[in-house]
Amino acid sequence: DTASLVLGIETTCDETAAAVIERGSDGRGRILSNIVHSQIEDHAPYGGVVPEIAARAHVDLLDGVIARAMRQADVGFVQLSGVAAAAGPGLIGGVIVGLTTAKAITLVHGTPLIAVNHLEAHALTPRLTHALPFPYCLFLASGGHTQIVAVLGVGDYVRLGTTVDDAMGEAFDKVAKMLGLPYPGGPQVERAAETGDPERFAFPRPMLGRPDANFSLSGLKTAVRNEASRLEPLERQDVCDLCAGFQAAVLETIIDRLDVGLTQFAERFGPPQALVAAGGVASNQAIRGALQTAADRAGTEFIIPPPKLCTDNGAMIAWAGAERLALGLTDPLETAPRARWLL
Ligand code: KG4
Ligand code: ZN
Repeated sequence: DTASLVLGIETTCDETAAAVIERGSDGRGRILSNIVHSQIEDHAPYGGVVPEIAARAHVDLLDGVIARAMRQADVGFVQLSGVAAAAGPGLIGGVIVGLTTAKAITLVHGTPLIAVNHLEAHALTPRLTHALPFPYCLFLASGGHTQIVAVLGVGDYVRLGTTVDDAMGEAFDKVAKMLGLPYPGGPQVERAAETGDPERFAFPRPMLGRPDANFSLSGLKTAVRNEASRLEPLERQDVCDLCAGFQAAVLETIIDRLDVGLTQFAERFGPPQALVAAGGVASNQAIRGALQTAADRAGTEFIIPPPKLCTDNGAMIAWAGAERLALGLTDPLETAPRARWLL
């Protein structure tokens, strides 16, 4: 196992990001730079990410973001052991921009290319920040994904549960939108819920007690919409109570679904080394509390990377690239970008 220096490029959604990380021969990681340019302001007027605007913004921004990441790390392209890009899943226009740019760099400098699955990068990030051995259980909740995954090794993942309809972040964003809160809605709902009464509305707890570890969030979202339209026009306190009620239902669902997921994990793979969280939704303090509760109940440790590494960033792509590179897993120039790509 030799030390490596990897550039990572992330362009699957609305963050244009690049980072340089070092992976020591002991397998420990160090972040030398981690530049994230969020396009939130470009998309906010539309209440969500507009794929065409995102793709064009990645074209405009990526070269500059990579240059900053390289400069801050004080590294030249020739020194890189590998260039990693998220090759999917995500908005295809953005994925093409990031992967093609990575290919150009590897072609010019003869550096290995690593085409990284964005979800795999989320799954491996805790190994960048913690000395965490396999296997462990990942709870991934973002704007596009809600999954419970058994992480058994690099490239060895078993999905234990997923959402049958909306992603969790998507549900937060939609609830925020229907209550007149700005995009992205997750942090707004969390803030409003702090001063709300979680018991004023009896919202459904979807999937509670089901034997599989899947999620369903669209029924809960509809229940919030029905209650909101019944109350129109909404007072500020109504909005806070609706948010608190919605979030309380989500918390209970998470604990229940993870009880099932962690039990299944232990039955199939033995006790996990930890429960690990990733994705933008995991930056929610109340949700972190629910995850801690689920971990306590299963008798396992709860590990969460700092918020900057939970949301989309280049360091997670670089790290996943370094982990794959250490196993000799590189990809040919003709690797295709993928809009859909299951773990
Ligand atoms: O991982 P992420 O930054 O991007 C991807 O979707 O890949 O996640 C963004 C999602 C958005 O839906 C956002 O509303 C949600 O994470 N989110 C939150 C919070 N912060 C971000 N949801 C609930 N509470 C939060 N504090
Ligand atoms: Zn993500």
